[in-house]
Amino acid sequence: MNSDPSRDTSGGEWWRDAVVYNIYPRSWRDTNGDGHGDLSGVVERLDHLAWLGVDAIWLNPIMPSPNRDWGYDIADYTAVHPDLGTLADLDLLVEAAGQRRIRLVLDLVPSHTSDEHPWFRAARSDRGSPFREYYVWRTPGTDGAPPNNWLGYFGQPAWTLDERTGEYYLHTFLPQQPKLNWWSSRVAEEFERILRFWFDRGISGMRIDALQTLVHDRTLRPNPAAGDRDTPLERRLGQRFLRSGAQPETHGFIRGWRRIADSYTPPRLLFGETWVPSVDDLAPYYGDGSDELGLAWNLPFLGCDFTARSLRAVVERTVAALPPSAWPAWAMSTHDGEGRAATRWCHGDPAAARCALLLLLTLRGTPILYYGDEIGMTDAVDTPGSGRRDTAETAAPRDRSRTPMQWAPGPGAGFTSSPRPWLPVPGADAPTVVEQRAAPGSVLSFCRDLITIRRRHHELVSGAMRFVPAPEGVLAWERGDGDFLAVVNLGPAPAVVTRDTADGEVLIGTDRHRDHQTLTDQVSLAPYEGLLIRLTRRPAADSDRSRESGRAS
Ligand code: NOJ
Ligand code: CA
Repeated sequence: MNSDPSRDTSGGEWWRDAVVYNIYPRSWRDTNGDGHGDLSGVVERLDHLAWLGVDAIWLNPIMPSPNRDWGYDIADYTAVHPDLGTLADLDLLVEAAGQRRIRLVLDLVPSHTSDEHPWFRAARSDRGSPFREYYVWRTPGTDGAPPNNWLGYFGQPAWTLDERTGEYYLHTFLPQQPKLNWWSSRVAEEFERILRFWFDRGISGMRIDALQTLVHDRTLRPNPAAGDRDTPLERRLGQRFLRSGAQPETHGFIRGWRRIADSYTPPRLLFGETWVPSVDDLAPYYGDGSDELGLAWNLPFLGCDFTARSLRAVVERTVAALPPSAWPAWAMSTHDGEGRAATRWCHGDPAAARCALLLLLTLRGTPILYYGDEIGMTDAVDTPGSGRRDTAETAAPRDRSRTPMQWAPGPGAGFTSSPRPWLPVPGADAPTVVEQRAAPGSVLSFCRDLITIRRRHHELVSGAMRFVPAPEGVLAWERGDGDFLAVVNLGPAPAVVTRDTADGEVLIGTDRHRDHQTLTDQVSLAPYEGLLIRLTRRPAADSDRSRESGRAS
C-alpha cells in the first residue's frame, strides 16, 4: 500500500492525488490460454501500470456471475469468478500491487443480484421464504398487469412475473438481475458485512454500481414522462426514472458506508456510479463533501462534445455544483454504451487522443483512465451475430469498448495465446503498447510523460483551476496560482492564444517537438494540438491576464 507520506497530501483521502486506471479484467491479459483475461494477468502486467504511473486500479466486477450482464449480475458477493481466478489470486494481486504502491478498487453491485444468487433462489422458491423480503414482489392486478409503468435501463418493463409464486418481481436491468429491496434492513446489513469483508482483505475502495437505482419508491408511484433535461436513455424510453430509483433514503445508506470506509486506515474509497443527467443531480451524492461519496461518476462530462465550449461548460458547472470540499472525477471512456474517447471524441486521431489525455490529466479532480486510453485505443467495429457477447439491449453495442487490451502486434495481440479470445483482438493496424513504448511521439509516451510531470508538480494535482480566455475552439486553463497553463486547440484551424503578461516554458506538448520551447506572448497551436506550459512570470492583475485573439489566418 502507499505508505510514502510524501505522496499523500490529501488528508488521508488518497484518491484525490491518484490516477485511477480502470481494467475490464476479462480483457486485460489471459495467462492460462482460455481466451479470458484473469487476475494472474493483472499481476503479470502490473509493471506496465507502475511504469505508466498509475496509483490505483479499479477492476470491473470479478465476483461469481452467470454473466448475463458480464459480472454485473452477481451470484456470490464474497468470492472470485472461477474464470478470473481465486480469492488467493486476489490476495496476491493486492500484495503485488501494494509493492508497487498501487491500490486495488473493486466493483460492487448493491442494487441487484443475479437470479442465480442463493438469496433469490430462496426468495422465489416460496412466498414464505425468509429471503422473500430481500427483493420486491407484487401480486398482479386483476387484469394480470404489472404493478406500474416502470421500465428498466435496457428498455423492457421492470417487472417479470414469477410463475411459481404468482407474483411480479422488480428488476431495473435484465430480468436475470432482480432488484434488491433496500427497504429491508437485512439487505443493508448484508452489504455492510460485504464491504467489511473486502476492506479487511486490503481492498482500497469500491466503485458502486448504479447507485441512482438503489432505493425505489416504496409505494410504487408511476414514473412520469421524460423531459428535455433527462438522460438520452430516459428520453428514448419516454420515461424519467424518478420513482423506480433515486429516492432520498439512498443518502442514509451511503453515509453508513462512508462511516465504514472511514473507519479504516487509510480510508477506503467510495466511488459511486451516479448515472444522472446533470451535475446538479450528481452533487447530492457527495453529501456535505466529506460524508458520502469520495468520488462520483460524471456522466455529463462523458457525454459532452469534444469542443472547447462544451467541455468548459460542463467542467465549470461541475465545479459550481459540487460542495466546496468535494472532489470531482473525470472519465472519458467506459465499458458501457458511451464507449471509448479515442472513437467518440477523437475519431481515431492520435493527436486528438493526446489532447484528450492532456485534458483528463490536468483538470482538477481524479482522472479515471480506461484501459487502452493510454494508447489511444478505439472502439472495435461491432461484432454482430454469433460473436456478440453482450445481450443487453443498449443504444450502442457495449462489446466494442470491451475488446482485449492491445499489448503487441501479432495473433492474440499479446492478450492471449488462445486462437479464440472471448472478444476479437484488433486488426494489424491497431495501436499497441509495445510499439508505442518505442515511439517517443506516441500517445503512450505522451501519457506516461504527462503523468510523470503531474507527479512532479503537485499544483497540477491539488492546485486551484480556472479557465482563461482563449479564441473560439481553444480551451485554456490555469492550475495553481497561475503557475501552469494548459491549452488545447480543438478546432479545425490553427489558432493563436495571446498572453501579454507571462512567459513560459512548454513542459510537454502533444507534438513533442514543442517540449521545452520558451514562449513569450504568442502561443500558436495547430489543430488538435495542446501544450502544458509552466509560466515563468506571474500575471499582474486579472484584467490584464490575457486577452483573446483571433485565429491565425
Ligand atoms: C452499470 C454498469 O456499468 C453496466 O455495465 C451494467 O449493465 C449496469 N450498471 C447494471 O449493473
Ligand atoms: Ca484466462
